[in-house]
Amino acid sequence: VASLTFPGGTAEFPILQSTEGRGSIDLSTFTKQTGYTGLDYGFVNTASTRSEITYIDGDEGILRYRGYPIEQLAEKSTFLEVAYLLINGELPNESEYGQFTNDIRRHTLLREGLKPLFQALPDSAHPMSVLSSAVAALATYYEDSLDVHDPEAVEINTIRLLAKLPVLAAYAHKKSIGQAFMYPDNSLGFVDNFLMLNFATYAEEYEPNPVLSRALERLLILHADHEQNASTSTVRLVGSTEANIYASVSAGISALYGPLHGGANEAVLNMLSEIKESGEGVGRFVERVKNKEDGVKLMGFGHRVYKSYDPRAKLVKESADEVLASLGVHDPLLEIAMELEQHALNDSYFQDRRLYPNVDFYTGIIYKAMGFPTRMFTPLFAIGRLPGWLAQWREQNQDSKSKIGRPQQLYLGATERDYPA
Ligand code: MLT
Repeated sequence: VASLTFPGGTAEFPILQSTEGRGSIDLSTFTKQTGYTGLDYGFVNTASTRSEITYIDGDEGILRYRGYPIEQLAEKSTFLEVAYLLINGELPNESEYGQFTNDIRRHTLLREGLKPLFQALPDSAHPMSVLSSAVAALATYYEDSLDVHDPEAVEINTIRLLAKLPVLAAYAHKKSIGQAFMYPDNSLGFVDNFLMLNFATYAEEYEPNPVLSRALERLLILHADHEQNASTSTVRLVGSTEANIYASVSAGISALYGPLHGGANEAVLNMLSEIKESGEGVGRFVERVKNKEDGVKLMGFGHRVYKSYDPRAKLVKESADEVLASLGVHDPLLEIAMELEQHALNDSYFQDRRLYPNVDFYTGIIYKAMGFPTRMFTPLFAIGRLPGWLAQWREQNQDSKSKIGRPQQLYLGATERDYPA
């Protein structure tokens, strides 16, 4: 028998057939016992992924990377320590960390020949479009990445991508505001270098602010992996074809682009602007959400796997409070966000549906206060998620006999039909 956990309980189902550790169960038995069809439970696409990287318990609101609780990592680690942990399975010791960070420093520069790629795209381009194109283009410079089973090539291209993605993202930002690209300053740490690349100009130096740097470091840690979400399962699926690491991560960036995934915090900020511009007030907006008027949606609330508070959201909210206090920011959109949070948290409509603020509700608020334009929110998510993508791609490809992925389909169409006479 197979023991399956689903929202509402756990039950055992007879296995009909089993090959190489994979079994199937009778869907009508599953539906009878659980009230779910395979599709609305959604297990058909994800049940086959085995991983040792990230653990989530959506009912209890638990998230762990390689066994370490997210709360401890967010408090004690740097983003690059967490990246090392996700990729290698262990936290680095001092010399491993020194080597890893030095390697990343040495690979931040982009080939000058890549820069015209940015010029070829319109200034109005969304930075995520620019980023996915630029990451795919890296494979043309690093053809050793085409051999996905050469451990040395995997190692060096992992480092290259960790080093270069923040630079590419910052260049996408600079391009969108018509400013010259800065060169990385490798005397700075990973996060400060990234902030400098975004906010320094050749006329004005960037003054690091420790509160902002630590807040961004924590946000990157909190986004570093999240099990088989849409972009990660995309990276694994593309990687399972033995496509190189750049092509696979570029596909992951495209999956992350959408407003239901990485674009969600951008959608939250757009929703807050609409509430402000309409002048209707938060109470009226909440009523419209509850009455499902005009298809209006409360963005940034609820999560597919968390049936209680998203553990990341609690930590992000702390960072939001610290950043806003340190900058002394008074932004009407932030006031609307806080009012909306209170309305929703105290309203039985949202409580009964377990619609708590998720991580996307607060991140946009912090990024906005830091000075990032709304369109940069998703690239920031991509930088955070990169270690998870790399770890999952490597796990998928570590065994040269691993199989090409193929999500299971439940056929719901017509039975055999005769071609019209
Ligand atoms: C994520 O972090 O990827 C999002 O919360 C979405 C998900 O996990 O499905």
